[in-house]
Amino acid sequence: MDRPKKTLWLGIETSCDETGVALVAEQDGKPRVIGALLVSQVNRHRPYGGIVPELAVREHSRNLPLLVARLFEETGIALGELRGIAVTEGPGLASSLLVGNAYARAMGAALDLPVFGVNHLEGHLFSPFLGAEESIRFPFLGLVVSGGHTLLASVEGWNRYRIVSATSDDAAGEALDKIARLLGLPYPGGPEIEKLATQGNPKAFRFPRGFPDSRDLRFSFSGVKTAIRYFLEKHAEERGNPAFLADVAASLQETVVQTLCDKALWAAAAGGFRILAASGGVLANRRLRELLDRGCRDAGLSLRIAPSSLCTDNAVMIASAAAWKNMAGVPACLREEIDPSLSLAM
Ligand code: KG4
Ligand code: ZN
Repeated sequence: MDRPKKTLWLGIETSCDETGVALVAEQDGKPRVIGALLVSQVNRHRPYGGIVPELAVREHSRNLPLLVARLFEETGIALGELRGIAVTEGPGLASSLLVGNAYARAMGAALDLPVFGVNHLEGHLFSPFLGAEESIRFPFLGLVVSGGHTLLASVEGWNRYRIVSATSDDAAGEALDKIARLLGLPYPGGPEIEKLATQGNPKAFRFPRGFPDSRDLRFSFSGVKTAIRYFLEKHAEERGNPAFLADVAASLQETVVQTLCDKALWAAAAGGFRILAASGGVLANRRLRELLDRGCRDAGLSLRIAPSSLCTDNAVMIASAAAWKNMAGVPACLREEIDPSLSLAM
């Protein structure tokens, strides 16, 4: 049987501790997911309380070829049907990025296919539009909150991104991961804090917010981290009390998500945006999603958020960015080398 011709992209994501592969087709002007696989390494890194780069490289190197083979087998797609390969070329851990890039570039050369370098942040930025009925409308305000980044960007078109605000120290996810460790919770800390927070009172304690005043759009999360360290030292006798720990988790989660929400809404009002698109691993947090939902409704803003599984790192967002750009006539380009600190602003 003849298969209908599709424009298909293979996406590869290895920027941190998830090995992701995805096949995405261009269909009716939108990316459509044909198949996707993801191997998370969190269980391997958990005993060390954070990501061990060498371990990540070994895991990516072992899993990536296996995942690609399984993806083609499960979807029944043949290599010859590919239009091109999309790979995350930064930002991220250098050694992890190298695994995906070496693989993608070798595969591109062997099959004579174009390789599209995708900025990991660009993948997150557009992920809220995955699966949406309507097409992407520019401009929109993008909020990206992950383990490595916390930023607001004005997205004016493909490759036209202007950073409105970023963090001056820790990313929100990074701060949550570090605070979780202080609370004796395993890595990654964000989901653990969320779980514990459901049993606590978000108004039990007040922790400081970074740049709280005068509509300052800058983010800062190292202050809350330090405040919690001193707070826990001061209340050392309570450290074994589960109710106390749950109250700390709920209160600090509230501080972080309120800050993210307020700043995004202020930036949207100041810039006259009509659409807020929120993404990144921390957007898996239900309280943050709830606050943004309510805040955007009150402000008359249209909110886009991807399902939680597409907020954390994945290859669907990488393949989809390439598909969208190709449909918009943006030529595929690939840096000579990976860039671990690749910026979103071009
Ligand atoms: O986007 P992502 O998967 O990887 C990076 O690009 O960094 O984000 C990972 C971050 C971690 O810091 C993790 O703790 C946080 O997202 N995270 C969450 C939740 N799920 C993941 N933070 C709060 N609540 C969650 N449910
Ligand atoms: Zn990410």
